Amino acid sequence: MRKFLTTTAIAAVMMTMGGLAAKAEEGVEVLHWWTSGGEAAALDVLKKDLESKGISWTDMPVAGGGGTEAMTVLRARVTAGNAPTAVQMLGFDILDWAKEGALGNLDEVAAAEGWDKVIPTALQQFSKYDGHWIAAPVNVHSTNWVWINKAALDAAGGKEPANWDELVALLDKFKEQGLTPVAHGGQAWQDATIFDAVVLSFGNDFYKKAFIDLDAETLGGAQMKEAFDRMAKLRSYVDDNFSGRDWNLASAMVIEGKAGLQFMGDWAKGEFIKAGKKPGADFVCMRFPGTQGSVTFNSDQFAMFKVADDKVPAQLKMASAIESPVFQSAFNVVKGSAPARTDVPDTDFDDCGKKAIKDLAEANTNGSLYGSMAHGHANPASVKNAIYDVVTRHFNGELTSEEAVTELAAAVEAAK
Ligand code: BGC
Repeated sequence: MRKFLTTTAIAAVMMTMGGLAAKAEEGVEVLHWWTSGGEAAALDVLKKDLESKGISWTDMPVAGGGGTEAMTVLRARVTAGNAPTAVQMLGFDILDWAKEGALGNLDEVAAAEGWDKVIPTALQQFSKYDGHWIAAPVNVHSTNWVWINKAALDAAGGKEPANWDELVALLDKFKEQGLTPVAHGGQAWQDATIFDAVVLSFGNDFYKKAFIDLDAETLGGAQMKEAFDRMAKLRSYVDDNFSGRDWNLASAMVIEGKAGLQFMGDWAKGEFIKAGKKPGADFVCMRFPGTQGSVTFNSDQFAMFKVADDKVPAQLKMASAIESPVFQSAFNVVKGSAPARTDVPDTDFDDCGKKAIKDLAEANTNGSLYGSMAHGHANPASVKNAIYDVVTRHFNGELTSEEAVTELAAAVEAAK
């Protein structure tokens, strides 16, 4: 017997279908450079969180630590009139896109969820433009960290180096053990990441004058020459195959006990954790000698691009999901970073994570929290790239320290 649906039943079926269709369409396309093991594991926390909320994920990964390549691809996409929904971005790059009028507006979610009160002002400087929220901060990383193989440290006497001389002594001991003392990848952003820490180790004022104020005398002065000398010294502890090596492969050298330590931001911890290593037992995290109490930070934010009206609800839901305190804890535990909100308990974080959260809060209170030059939080890309160029040429032996300071001051002056 044939059954006929009543008008009401048909309407109900159609509504359900309409609902399903709308749901299936709700998705985000996300451009990012989180392609290493630890990074991908953290990204998965975000993907799954959104999928559980019915938002599908279109992945647009662009490999390359520090995001240089990702930013090139982004430029091409936007120029072609095809901006992704959300883009992983650092500091001044976000403001540059906002200036171009390319970003959307998150004010509605930010106001409803009280972001102003819980997201530190140091991050808000990059999440807001002209008083409007344009990006959702995911985390706070920092660059002045050292990741040491615990067994190698123990074999060298077990003491964490407290200053430059002790650091050099430790690296010599690693060499005696037959290890590569410093695991490093010769890429401009990695060289610059070490330079962040080396410059900071000469004091907060020096870092601020050099990288925040871009003071020509500081950039071209005697102390900067000493900083370059220290870079040259560290260069003598890397292996012959360092050129072009990805940062996570350098982390793997420490994890596998082939190298003594790595100078790298706390995304390196994500690699150790992914490899099943435990802080305190298998590896040690410490601030670069001489920088304890200070933090050079960078925050990954998802800059939200102007998209078609029908894509905005998913974009706002993504922003809201990112700022949820539960997500902030779950994600940052895996990523190696501290939460982007001040009210997230540190309960689930390991000792390095707890230290990251504590250091950040203290540096913020003491005025010793600075944007990372290497990771786009001290200057716009033009200045950052000018510094990268000099630091890398010097690291590769193309410039003496004397030449490097002269070039640094000149390059920054021309770029600013
Ligand atoms: C980002 C990190 C990332 C690292 C290496 C940094 O600029 O802030 O999230 O893990 O680059 O790719």
